[in-house]
Amino acid sequence: MTAPRTFFLTTPIYYVNDVPHVGHAYTTIAADALTRSRRMQGKDAFLLTGTDEHGQNIERIAREKGIATQLYCDQVSAVFRDLWDRLDVRYDRFIRTTEDLHVRGVLKLWGRLLEAKCPDGRDAVYSGTYAGWYCPRCEAFKDEEELKQPGNLCPDHERACEWTEEENYFFRLSAYEGWLRDAVVSGRLRIDPEARRNEVLGIVGQGLKDFSVSRARVKWGIPVPQRPDHVLYVWVDALSNYITALDYAGDGPLYEKYWAGAAAERFHLIGKDILRFHCLYWPALLEAAGVPPPNREFVQGWITKEGKKLSKTTGNVIDPQALVERHGPDPVRYFLLREGSYGQDWDFTDQAFVGRYNSDLANDLGNLVSRALTMLARYCGGKVPPTPAAPRGTALGFEEDLQVPGTTERRCGVVLDRYEALELAGALSEVWSWVGQLNQAIVLRSPWEIAKDPERRGELDAFLYRLLEAVRLVAVLVYPVMPRAAGRIFGMLGLPDRDPGPEDLSWGRLAPGSPLGALEPLFPRIEKERTVSDSKPPQAPPPVETTQAAPPPTAEKLDIADFAKVELRAGRIQAAEKVAGSKKLVKLQVDLGGEVRQLVAGIADAYAPESLVGKSVAVVANLKPAKLMGVESNGMVLAASLDGKAVLCTFDGEVPPGTRIK
Ligand code: MSP
Repeated sequence: MTAPRTFFLTTPIYYVNDVPHVGHAYTTIAADALTRSRRMQGKDAFLLTGTDEHGQNIERIAREKGIATQLYCDQVSAVFRDLWDRLDVRYDRFIRTTEDLHVRGVLKLWGRLLEAKCPDGRDAVYSGTYAGWYCPRCEAFKDEEELKQPGNLCPDHERACEWTEEENYFFRLSAYEGWLRDAVVSGRLRIDPEARRNEVLGIVGQGLKDFSVSRARVKWGIPVPQRPDHVLYVWVDALSNYITALDYAGDGPLYEKYWAGAAAERFHLIGKDILRFHCLYWPALLEAAGVPPPNREFVQGWITKEGKKLSKTTGNVIDPQALVERHGPDPVRYFLLREGSYGQDWDFTDQAFVGRYNSDLANDLGNLVSRALTMLARYCGGKVPPTPAAPRGTALGFEEDLQVPGTTERRCGVVLDRYEALELAGALSEVWSWVGQLNQAIVLRSPWEIAKDPERRGELDAFLYRLLEAVRLVAVLVYPVMPRAAGRIFGMLGLPDRDPGPEDLSWGRLAPGSPLGALEPLFPRIEKERTVSDSKPPQAPPPVETTQAAPPPTAEKLDIADFAKVELRAGRIQAAEKVAGSKKLVKLQVDLGGEVRQLVAGIADAYAPESLVGKSVAVVANLKPAKLMGVESNGMVLAASLDGKAVLCTFDGEVPPGTRIK
């Protein structure tokens, strides 16, 4: 019997020369989303990440900070781990290059390389003299033409490179040109996006130079056994993590399962800065050592801010820690994967973050869940309605409302294929087009109208069952990107909060009659003004005044100062339910920007509660609290009265909750 195919995915291991920034989070979240999507389909997927802890640069920083290098590495590595925990990244292994298992694996690989022959029969590793410009920040020699003048500056770090001459071991990369070209052209090494694949072929076409694989002057690294005054070049050390983490040293079962034997994919996610190392050096080193090379690499785009590279000197770094603290992991994960196309560069702006959060999460998804659950509570006693008589399995049943082509299975397939191709924004936009259609279906079908006619009970149940199932599937499909929100939606649907599996991807999993959970707000809106990405603590919302304006007699003219005492604000209704025992009163939860308020309004004879969810309304926000039929109300919703029936005041355009009305 053949072993089931496995899927091994890695992020780069991050330097511990500084705490993590949003670029590191970007790769790691993407890797987590792809791995979750694979596991959800029942695939055996393994995610590896970690920290790169050797090299001159790290040694220098620790010295400057006055702490032992290992202790410094321990501290910064722990910050990375902590951030991944906060971002709900579920890796299978976190490798550190200062681990013993890693060191043993690197030395084993080194031993194989020393014995290896190139395709042309020469030794793969030889000793020679290296003379050139060395950038200690890149830990790499630079070509003379690359340097910025005057001063022989490294083009990436803008710091002077050092003229270095030393006896080194070299790896004969030049002998692997043909093999590398063939691997890429044949697709044995798949590199995406295509522009990056062409870039790699372009580099090969220009001719490859051998590179040195040991360093004489560096102390913080793995000593070369044959020359203990040398350490192994930091890139040989770092790249090896992808196999040492699986116990290449001991030919352990994980190495066999996820790399050497059954692996369908040995897949690296990388940034464009490290393309040469991953797409040329690493496959050639492995080929020489007789170890299977990676077969897939994806080069992600660059996040910039106001078009500029993120850098501490420019002061435009985006602190992922601060973002998570403020908004929680899901919105950060969603925004990073939704805003840009994964293989392209894109610009991070605070406005885009707030915009996506408020429109995609608070409005579209939040309102869908809240509307569906509110209607279920009202019309079905908070239980899953009977399964519709219509054919099970394929059509969603909204086609007649929406002319939605296709079926649920096909829809899920499209989303999962997009995750698999790392078209992450595309996967999410597909889910959101469904969310939009479902919201539209609610308006078009107006279940509150159907509910008025007892003869249409079956129709109502069928619609609500399908709506609920669609909400469940939406939660399953967003799970790879927003596992927490998905879990909370499962909870509201009365399902256990567990990782979804392949069986959850099919239609009709909700059992009729089973109780639903309590409705809870998913994504409370954020105010537009607030900066989202700096590391200052969030501003408290302005205090709400409590003075209540005396109602002016209609005939009398009002001084503008008197009118200004009335705090009128735009609000968005998040939830609505009838007040028990009253025909007219409805209890509302209204989002006023910085807070969600409970208000009671006498509009139930004109509006079904579920039709109110998502509406923008005008609110008097500074009324003293009052009790109506025992229910506290903290403000008033404005409405006109036509023949005794309420008609709500709304807006002639999109107005964010909390906006002052004057
Ligand atoms: N330690 C090496 C990698 C060794 S892998 C065997 C290294 N580390 S790093 O800390 O500098 O991280 C580099 C990776 O972080 C990039 O390849 C990329 O994945 C990610 N990013 C760093 N800055 C980024 C942006 N501004 N935007 C997007 N991703 C970026 O290089």
